[in-house]
Amino acid sequence: MTDAAGIKPRVKIDEVPPLDKARSPLGDPTWRYVSATQLEDLRAPDWAIIDAQRPRFIKGRAARDALALLETQRDDPSFGYQTNMYRHCLESASRAWRDGADEEFIVICLLHDIGYTIANPTHGEFAAALLRPFTSEAHTWMLRHHQAFQAYHCHDLPGHDRMKREAYRGHPSFELTARFIERYDQNTTNPNYDTLPVQAFEPLVHRLFDREPRL
Ligand SMILES: [Fe+2]
Ligand SMILES: [Fe+2]
Repeated sequence: MTDAAGIKPRVKIDEVPPLDKARSPLGDPTWRYVSATQLEDLRAPDWAIIDAQRPRFIKGRAARDALALLETQRDDPSFGYQTNMYRHCLESASRAWRDGADEEFIVICLLHDIGYTIANPTHGEFAAALLRPFTSEAHTWMLRHHQAFQAYHCHDLPGHDRMKREAYRGHPSFELTARFIERYDQNTTNPNYDTLPVQAFEPLVHRLFDREPRL
């Protein structure tokens, strides 16, 4: 069931786990629980357990969860463009793929608007924060500022300064960001474009999130 804006509820009240199952199962049968229930009470042996199990837990799940967030938007309606944001992202990534872009750039195209609904006013920062540990500084900057650069292509848009990007003229990533917007963002709401399915990009997403994080 959806409301007037086409929003489906994702969790029903009877899907909340019952209290007798409140302790979450371990991700691996060989792992151990710590007994403390607040950080204040954990000591060195506890931290050794947590620090050993955490990276094994995270590995694979980061990519899975990013793709899951993208997937939540698959059946969303559009708010006016001819495609929804999911298809916009797939079209962006498909064009980059066909242009021979490197894997990092293709994944960035796929995920650049992943926070569009959950963090609309700051969705560039959202994507930059998500991908910064695994991407170059230039790409992180591009993601963070892509909203400001998009305005250049928006004619007659009330309340928006088309030349907002000029504040960044001279920055080493200015041209990169301008090119991304021109070729892979402002032009990617075409329902007739031969968009690749998300499965084409899943291995790339996993490989990116499997990189050693840049902190
Ligand atoms: Fe965006
Ligand atoms: Fe976009």
